[in-house]
Amino acid sequence: MATIVETAETSELLSELTTMVGREDPYPRYDRLRQISPLVRADDGAIVVTRYADCATVARDGRLGHTSPDMLAFVGLPDWAEHPALRLLFTSMLAANPPAHTRLRRLVSSAFTARRVQALEPAIEAMVADLLDRMDGETDFVSAFAFPLPVNVIGELLGVPAADRAQFQPLIRDWTQVLEVIDPEVLARADPAASTVRAYLADLIAERRRRPGTDLISSLVAGGTEQLTEDELVTMAGLLFAAGFETTTNLLVNGLVALLGHPKQVPAVQADPAGAVEELLRFDTPVQLISRLAYEDVQIAGVTIGAGERLVAYLGAGNRDPERFIAPHRLDLFRADNAPLSFGGGIHYCLGAPLARLEAKIAFPALFRRFPNLVAAGEPERRDSLTIRGLTRMPVRT
Ligand code: HEM
Repeated sequence: MATIVETAETSELLSELTTMVGREDPYPRYDRLRQISPLVRADDGAIVVTRYADCATVARDGRLGHTSPDMLAFVGLPDWAEHPALRLLFTSMLAANPPAHTRLRRLVSSAFTARRVQALEPAIEAMVADLLDRMDGETDFVSAFAFPLPVNVIGELLGVPAADRAQFQPLIRDWTQVLEVIDPEVLARADPAASTVRAYLADLIAERRRRPGTDLISSLVAGGTEQLTEDELVTMAGLLFAAGFETTTNLLVNGLVALLGHPKQVPAVQADPAGAVEELLRFDTPVQLISRLAYEDVQIAGVTIGAGERLVAYLGAGNRDPERFIAPHRLDLFRADNAPLSFGGGIHYCLGAPLARLEAKIAFPALFRRFPNLVAAGEPERRDSLTIRGLTRMPVRT
C-alpha cells in the first residue's frame, strides 16, 4: 500500500522544480517522484501527486475544492480582498466552489457556446495568415505569432477593439504573476495592473450595455432569465481574458519546440491536425499543475487523505505516466487513445479548451505550409514560472 513519503530526496526533487535547471526539463524529476511514491509530502505541507489516475482524481473529485480564501489566509494574507489582483482572481469562477461555481459556469456557458467558438474560425484563419505575412527571416516566434494570435482571438471573442488589445500583454502578465508567488514585490505590480484591467473592462461593459454587439460580453450583459451582477461581469471578463492568454501562447510555443525537435513528424501536423494538437498538449503542457483543498476525507492511491489537506496535481507528470501512456517520453503525433490531462477535469474543466484547440489546429498546419523549412535560430528564453510552462522568447528562421 502506498504511503505519503517525505524524504531528503523528494524535498530536493521538488525544490529543483522551482529552479531554472528543473524548469528546463522537469520530466525526469517527475518520473523519479512517481517511482518513489504516488503521494509525496512537499516542504510546505501540500501532498503532491504525479500519476495520471491520481491527477485525474484531484481534478474531478467533488470532495476536493478550490483553496481560494483558505489558501490566502494560509499564506498569511487575511487582507487578500484589499488587493485588486487577488480579488479579481480569487473571486472568479476559477477559484469558486459549488454552488457559486455552478451558477457562474452555467451563466458563462450559455454565452460561450460551441457555435460561437466555431464561428471564430474564419477570423482565426485571417489572423494567422496576417501574422505569417509579417514573419520573415529571423524572428522571435513569441512576439511575432504565439502571443498576438491568442490575444487577438480572445479580444475578438470578447469584443475588445483591435487597437486596445496589445496593451493587455504586460498588464495580464503582471496581474497573473500572483498565481506563481504572492509577495509584496509581485503585488506592487499586480495590483495596479489588475485595477487597470478592471477599469478597462468596466468601461467596455458599460459601452456594450449602451450599444450591444454580437460579442461575448454583449451576450453576458444581456443574460437570460438570470444575470451576472456588474462586479461578476467584470471579474468573468477578466478571467476569460487572462485564462485564454499565456496558456494558448505556450501551447503554440511548446508545440513548436517539440515539432522542431522532431522534424520527421512535422508532416503529421497536416495529416491529422487535431491528433497532433492533442499530443502536443500532452507532451509539454502549458499548465503544469493544479491545486485543491480536501473538504472531506478522500481516498487517493489507496490512502485516506484527511479533510483540510492541500493537494497539488502535476498534470505535466500525469501526462508522462508510463502506466497510462506507452513510451510516454516519445512524441507521437499519431498516438492512439490519447487523453491528456492538460485542460484539467471535473467541474473546472477548461472552458476555453475548444477555442485553444481550434487556434492550434489552424496555426500549426498554416505555419508549416508557409515555412516548410522553419528552424530554431538561437537560444530561447524560458519563462520563470512553475505553473505556466513556456518561453518568453523563441528565435526562429523562416
Ligand atoms: C492551451 C491552452 C489552455 C490550457 C492548457 C488551459 C488549461 C486550463 C486548466 C488546466 C484549467 C483547470 C484549472 C483547475 O482545475 O484548477 C483551466 C480552466 C479554465 N480555463 Fe483554460 N486553458 C487553456 C486555454 C483557455 C482559453 C483559450 C480560455 C478562454 C477563452 C480558457 C478559460 C478557462 C476558464 C474560464 C477556466 C476556469 C473554468 C472553471 O473554473 O470552471 N482557457 N484551463
